Amino acid sequence: MEAAHSAGLTIGYLGSKDALSERHRELAETVLLLPDVSPDRVVQAAVALHGVQPFDLAVTMHDTFLQTVARINQELGLTATPLRTVTAVDDKAFMREVLRGSEVGKVAFAKVRCAQDLLGLGEVLGFPLILKPTRGTGSQQIHFVRHGARLRELAGELDFSVPGKETSAPWLAEEFLTGPEFSVETFSVAGEHHILAVTEKFKTANFVEIGHLVPARITAEQQAPIAAEVRRLLTALGVQEGPAHTEIVLTDRGPRVIETHTRPGGDAIVELVRLASGFDVQELTFTWLSGKPLDLTPRPLAAAAAIWFLTLPEGEVTSVGGLDEARAAEGVESAYLTAAVGDLVPPLRSSWDRQGDVLAVGEDPDTALSRAQQAVGLFEVEVDPSTASRPDPPPGRRGPAIRHHLPLHRTVTT
Ligand SMILES: Nc1ncnc2c1ncn2[C@@H]1O[C@H](COP(=O)(O)OP(=O)(O)O)[C@@H](O)[C@H]1O
Ligand SMILES: [Mg+2]
Repeated sequence: MEAAHSAGLTIGYLGSKDALSERHRELAETVLLLPDVSPDRVVQAAVALHGVQPFDLAVTMHDTFLQTVARINQELGLTATPLRTVTAVDDKAFMREVLRGSEVGKVAFAKVRCAQDLLGLGEVLGFPLILKPTRGTGSQQIHFVRHGARLRELAGELDFSVPGKETSAPWLAEEFLTGPEFSVETFSVAGEHHILAVTEKFKTANFVEIGHLVPARITAEQQAPIAAEVRRLLTALGVQEGPAHTEIVLTDRGPRVIETHTRPGGDAIVELVRLASGFDVQELTFTWLSGKPLDLTPRPLAAAAAIWFLTLPEGEVTSVGGLDEARAAEGVESAYLTAAVGDLVPPLRSSWDRQGDVLAVGEDPDTALSRAQQAVGLFEVEVDPSTASRPDPPPGRRGPAIRHHLPLHRTVTT
């Protein structure tokens, strides 16, 4: 909303009361609050609002509302990314189907609707394979499957009920793509896709993202096919306008798409890109929407920028510190600690289980990355593992509470 306001646009806010801050209220000309923000309700409300106070475009920066907003624009005949494109992006299995037979349809996949489908995956895809929810986010429930025995276990564990009638299948299985992973920020204008940055991604063995670095440490020869694959993907999906965030694995057979989003990347990637390339994706989006010419000249504020996340062992947080030290460290732009005394740290299963982060800049990518990692190491968080959320050990086998003293970045696997 700040970016829309700076671009001179008139803003109306439609959504829940909880998500409306004082600043939103100041910036919005019209405010329509809904107790129920389910897709049908939001579409009805937007259409009614349009009757009273017509608007040029509905916009969201939030995954939850991408499809709803595409429905509003379609229903009102407003020019935006088509509903079919947004639906394909939102449903990983539907995206693979849309891409099947195209140049970007090279990843072997199978929809999984029931335990029977699951047990047959070995013959269809071979091993190892990835099994994931078709509409998952934040690396929740990404299963790396090495053999049939694991499939049989999963057949008894997974929920096959379809979450929402518009999902093509609850689970998607894919061939496992081996290689380093990158994400690519783009901005499309009339179907032409401009590459803003390629980001190097760091993740744990269970695929939780624990760091990002802009620019990625790749050669021009590696970057060219990545950029070409992303452009082919966006064209195949029908992305016409606005920001997109695409995830790619660089395999030894070439780049392969994991997924894409018709919105900018999360995890402060927007800020990394702003610092290391000078492109402010939010500003670009609204300047372009306001009809001004698009300026795509890179004006980096730093040579490189990185974010690193704090991950903690399971248990109860008994003390926190080091935030000021992390903030004062060389090159640090921002540092946040979400862990608080008394919190129960869960096992690291998704992006929401991370407990803080540091964003740092540097004169080259290695420096930015090591500064962010080292500053995360300055956080001092003590965790008592005897109160972990895992099942209690049998009586008599409970040892004394062990206190983990951090630097924590050593506990992180990439
Ligand atoms: N087919 C695959 N091969 C290799 N790794 C994969 C595959 N699919 C997913 N992953 C890994 O899991 C992560 C999360 O998967 P993704 O489809 O992006 O789900 P989410 O929406 O939760 O981000 C990816 O960033 C990647 O590291
Ligand atoms: Mg992803």
